[in-house]
Amino acid sequence: MKKCGLAAAIAAIFGMVAPPAADAAESVSVLHWWTSGGESKAVRVLKDDMEKQGYGWKDFAVAGGGGAAAMTALKTQVISGNAPSAAQIKGPLIQDWASQSVLANIDKVAADWKANLPPTLDTQMKADGHYVGVPFSIHRINWLWINKADLDKVGGKPPTTWPEFFALADKFRAAGITPVAHGGQPWQDMTIWETVVLSQGADFYRKALVDLDQQTLTSPQMVQVFDIVRRIHGYLGSGYQARDWNVATGMVLSGSGGMQFMGDWAKGEFANANKKADVDYICAPAPGTSNAYTYSVDSFVFFQERGAKDATPGQLAMAKTIMSVDFQQDFSLYKGSIPVRLNVPMDKFDTCAKKSYADEIATIKSSGFVPSLEFGMVQSAATEGAITDAVTKFMNSNEDSAQGVKALAAAAKVR
Ligand code: BGC
Repeated sequence: MKKCGLAAAIAAIFGMVAPPAADAAESVSVLHWWTSGGESKAVRVLKDDMEKQGYGWKDFAVAGGGGAAAMTALKTQVISGNAPSAAQIKGPLIQDWASQSVLANIDKVAADWKANLPPTLDTQMKADGHYVGVPFSIHRINWLWINKADLDKVGGKPPTTWPEFFALADKFRAAGITPVAHGGQPWQDMTIWETVVLSQGADFYRKALVDLDQQTLTSPQMVQVFDIVRRIHGYLGSGYQARDWNVATGMVLSGSGGMQFMGDWAKGEFANANKKADVDYICAPAPGTSNAYTYSVDSFVFFQERGAKDATPGQLAMAKTIMSVDFQQDFSLYKGSIPVRLNVPMDKFDTCAKKSYADEIATIKSSGFVPSLEFGMVQSAATEGAITDAVTKFMNSNEDSAQGVKALAAAAKVR
């Protein structure tokens, strides 16, 4: 059992701090939300690797795409003094947890990370100059997944503008295909909305969702964003409420759905079903976003065991494994992402991953590489939650765009 926060302080005061376990029989408990077919295969690579190294693995998989349920479960575990050895946490939340003095230091295995990570992502893994997080991979959010047979059937091509997108959606509808496969959960609604914000340009996205600039948030261009989202909403078909993301991906996979806006973990589902990029499905940057890239980086942090500031051998082994070249490759092949470690060979990856990698490099140079708001990469949980509420309320009501913008501007002030 691990002790955190108050529990750890009490243990320390009474001299109850035991040294971390040093034997290879150590078992690591791991909290994550990778439960779909593709996600499970990806996390299994880590489990197998750890078991090969002689460590036990206690799995705390919390169902619910996007991770909101997992974050609630994590808080409960930590408060009750049962923090996991490792937990899937990303973005500014890493700093939040670090400020509670509950995360373990993993510097020992991170000597070469700075040279092998994009600088902003390297910084995000550290608190007070010490590594506390280890990154897995980069997901691109602004993708549109299209069923290839459906596309051929209606004689369409991947849309690069919104007018082209709506023309294709009409063709799908006329052919009896649900144009946009979607699940009406707040984070999926946000995936669409955030992507439409990006279609107004990376600068617009940055001013709106990174700087939270009120002028941009209330601009006529933002009204247009809500107009487009409202229009997309008309193409979701029936029964989309509360549908899980992988069920929506399954629709594109089978062809009952034509397109889906989703991060490239969707590709993990296609791979899991032996579907091939360019043959069975197409990955295209969402309309208007070919020069931009919304990224999300999954990472693990490690909770202090019995109040010891340094990570245990098992935690260090896990961090080291995750950043190794082989793991970075194998994990992303299942997950649909690309390695976060720079210069990992890409020859085993498909065209979507190669495109993602090329676009990552290009958009880092052109300032088109921006952090995803919805996937926890930039704002506090409070701000992100308030904006999500505003957007999801808009999508699930008859609010007009002006009302949506007003609610958004107010939500962006929540800190
Ligand atoms: C995570 C992905 C995961 C997705 C759906 C996102 O928040 O970054 O790794 O596949 O949620 O569960």
